[in-house]
Amino acid sequence: MPNQNDRTIEQGCCLDEATRLEYLNAMDIQPWCLKHQPDAPLQITSLPDDQVSAVDDSHQPEVSDVVDKPVTTDISSLGWESLKQVVSQCQLCELHTLRTQTVFGTGNPDADLMLIGEAPGEDEDRQGEPFVGHAGHLLDAMLQAIGLDRQKVYIANVLKCRPPDNRKPHTSEIVCCDAYLQQQIKLVQPKIILALGRIAAQHLLVSHETLAVLREKKHTYNGIAMRVSYHPAYLLRKPIEKRKSWQDLLAVKQLLNNS
Ligand code: URA
Repeated sequence: MPNQNDRTIEQGCCLDEATRLEYLNAMDIQPWCLKHQPDAPLQITSLPDDQVSAVDDSHQPEVSDVVDKPVTTDISSLGWESLKQVVSQCQLCELHTLRTQTVFGTGNPDADLMLIGEAPGEDEDRQGEPFVGHAGHLLDAMLQAIGLDRQKVYIANVLKCRPPDNRKPHTSEIVCCDAYLQQQIKLVQPKIILALGRIAAQHLLVSHETLAVLREKKHTYNGIAMRVSYHPAYLLRKPIEKRKSWQDLLAVKQLLNNS
């Protein structure tokens, strides 16, 4: 497995070459170097979707090992505006054909706390902002409970486009979107990252451990303190877990106070 924290963007590509070059040129970005034939399939090992979308979000392993990635480019020098523009025009995976718009991220670009969720849902796809549906309302309440709100933190998702019918992200989609999230983290430079749910936690930590296990541990991500908690959508389905999530929030609050 490559070092997650050292990455250049490594992505599958769906654009024809002329459009891709035109598009990169318009954004003043160096063209990509092809490492493999563009039609070479990504070699991915993952569980079938019916095994990863079960109700209990905390006990389903899904991180997959991508052993080959066809295309490379570098977005590590982009600032907020260019990054947002690149994301808004992204066609690196098939999700772009289904989106109303990309959902980039929201909040304070200098936040001490960065929250990372899974992927936009229907409401987010329509409004262009993360966590604005039912799960988002719960997230707002959770933040309020520790004296924060969405203007004080930065909120992003692993995926910037909505998966159809809110299915779990495919590994290839996560790979396509990964450099965008890396760059967002680099720009925010948060003191603490809170991963919400299994997909974000396993992806950032390059782990196959369950959410139940990951939330019990203290993590660092690229030198940044990181904690894992339940996804608000999971808490809506399993309100009994809100108590544990409250403990997680208190731990985050304490970290913030000590930072
Ligand atoms: N779930 C997420 O993970 N992110 C959102 O933006 C909305 C719901």
